[in-house]
Amino acid sequence: MNNTVYYDPPFSDDRRRELLFEGQLLVYSPRPSTLAFIKFARKLIEEAFGPLDPETAQHQLTVEQYAEILLNLKPGFIHHPESKRLIQEIFMEMGCDLEKTYFDVPKMRSSTSDNYLTTGIAYAWHPHRDTWYSAPPCQINWWIPIYDIQADNAMAFHPQYWNRPVKNNSKEYNYYLWNQQSRGAHVAGYLKKDPRPLPKPTEPLELDPQVRLIVPAGGIIFFSAAQMHSSVPNTSGKTRFSVDFRVVHLDDVKAKRGASVVDEECTGTTMRDYLRGTDFSHVPDELVALYDDGTAAEVGELIYRPHNHDTSSR
Ligand SMILES: [Fe+2]
Repeated sequence: MNNTVYYDPPFSDDRRRELLFEGQLLVYSPRPSTLAFIKFARKLIEEAFGPLDPETAQHQLTVEQYAEILLNLKPGFIHHPESKRLIQEIFMEMGCDLEKTYFDVPKMRSSTSDNYLTTGIAYAWHPHRDTWYSAPPCQINWWIPIYDIQADNAMAFHPQYWNRPVKNNSKEYNYYLWNQQSRGAHVAGYLKKDPRPLPKPTEPLELDPQVRLIVPAGGIIFFSAAQMHSSVPNTSGKTRFSVDFRVVHLDDVKAKRGASVVDEECTGTTMRDYLRGTDFSHVPDELVALYDDGTAAEVGELIYRPHNHDTSSR
C-alpha cells in the first residue's frame, strides 16, 4: 500500500474518514478554532505552573512537585465546560456534522524530556494501536500540540504495521476492568511504575523508518485508532504538551465501518464514552449493543470517568 500524508486537503468529513480508515494520515494547519482551543489550554497550564515556563519547569521542580501540578491541571482541563465548547467550534470549522459526530472528553498530555517523568500521569507510550485498548475501528484521533513541537519531542507513526498483524497482549485488557482499576488507583504508586495492564507488542517491532509529523501549535494531526503509534523519546530539553480527543461518526458506528481489525483481542468497548457534538448525549444503547461482547455484565465501570488519578489512558 502507499502511505500518504495529506496536508490541508479540501475533503469533506466523509472523505477524510474514508482515507483514515485506509491508513492514511491527514494534517491541517492551525485555524481560529484550534488556536482558541490551545489559547485556553495554555492559560490553564500557565496558571498551574505559576511563574515557571511550563516547557522547562521540569528542570526546576522535583518529580513529585511536578506530578502534583499535572494531577490538578489535567482533570481541570478535561472537566472544564469551555473545553467541550471549544471542541464544538473546531468541529464546525472542520466541516463535521455535529448531530452525527461524537467525541470523548479531550485529554491533555505531557511528555517530559530526558526521562524525567514517564509513568502514570505522564506516561511515555510504547508502540500501540488504540484499538488494542477497546477503541472501535471507526475511531479517529485528533491530536493537537499546545506549544510548537519538534522531531525530538513529537509522536511517531509506524505505518508499515497498517493491516499487518503484530503479536500483542491486548487479550489481557478489558476496558471496564481498566476503568475500575484506574478509579481505585493511587497516583503515588504510578510515579515509578504502572501496575495496570497496558497492551503492547510481544514481538520486536521495526520502529524505523518512522513518520514524525511536525505541525505548528494549533495544527491538527488525524489518524485512525488502528494506526500504530508511539511517543518519541523526548530529548529536546522541553516538555511537550498536547491535547487529543477521539471521535466517531454515527453513520460509521451504525454500519460498523472503519479500519480493518487485524490483531485486536481486547474486550469491552469505549463506545459509551462518546458525546454527541450538539448536546453531549451518549451513543444510543442499541448502537452500543453492536459493540458489546458480554463482558459489560461482569465488571463495574462501563464509562471512562476522568478523575484525579488517571489521565494516562492511551
Ligand atoms: Fe494512542
